Amino acid sequence: MIYRKAVFKDVEAVHKLVNAYADKGLMLSRSRNVLYETLRDLLVAEHDGVIIGVGSLHLTWDELAEIRALAVAPHTIKSGIGRNIVETLVGEAKQLGVKTLFTLTYQPEFFAKLGFEEVSKDLLPHKVWKECINCAKFPNCDETAMMRKI
Ligand SMILES: CC(C)(COP(=O)(O)OP(=O)(O)OC[C@H]1O[C@@H](n2cnc3c(N)ncnc32)[C@H](O)[C@@H]1OP(=O)(O)O)[C@@H](O)C(=O)NCCC(=O)NCCS
Repeated sequence: MIYRKAVFKDVEAVHKLVNAYADKGLMLSRSRNVLYETLRDLLVAEHDGVIIGVGSLHLTWDELAEIRALAVAPHTIKSGIGRNIVETLVGEAKQLGVKTLFTLTYQPEFFAKLGFEEVSKDLLPHKVWKECINCAKFPNCDETAMMRKI
């Protein structure tokens, strides 16, 4: 298994992986446009040349970053890849001087296992909601906000 930063040739596989879950309402969808624009945020897990996992570290504000777009291929669920992706992103965040990570998720139990704690959405800076206006669910966000100090 290789965990590495994404490059352009990964975008189609990431798009397919994320949007298959999004179609089932398990995560928010990502357009190709967004994936291209945020390519440097993305980390992929690759096995035998196939992309089987993805996660994103998005810098938000002073010493604050978000874990986003986390997904692993259905046949690999609960084999530790999600944890490895998050912990690799945590390492990257630490190098950048991030002190607090947050996520908005439908999988709070998974993130709780990784040391994230549920917080009120009010604790997040207003800037976080800038991109939410593009979400079909806005303004009725039903994701759970979670934070982890690193
Ligand atoms: C959520 C997801 C990324 C987790 O990745 P994963 O590789 O399956 O998780 P891991 O195997 O690394 O699990 C780490 C720990 O969390 C637990 N866990 C994983 N998914 C869980 C869930 N949905 N509920 C409760 N616990 C969960 C595992 O059992 C493991 O616990 P352990 O440390 O006691 O063994 C993966 O299930 C997935 O891609 N789901 C579909 C897309 C999705 O929901 N993405 C999140 C959008 S917010």
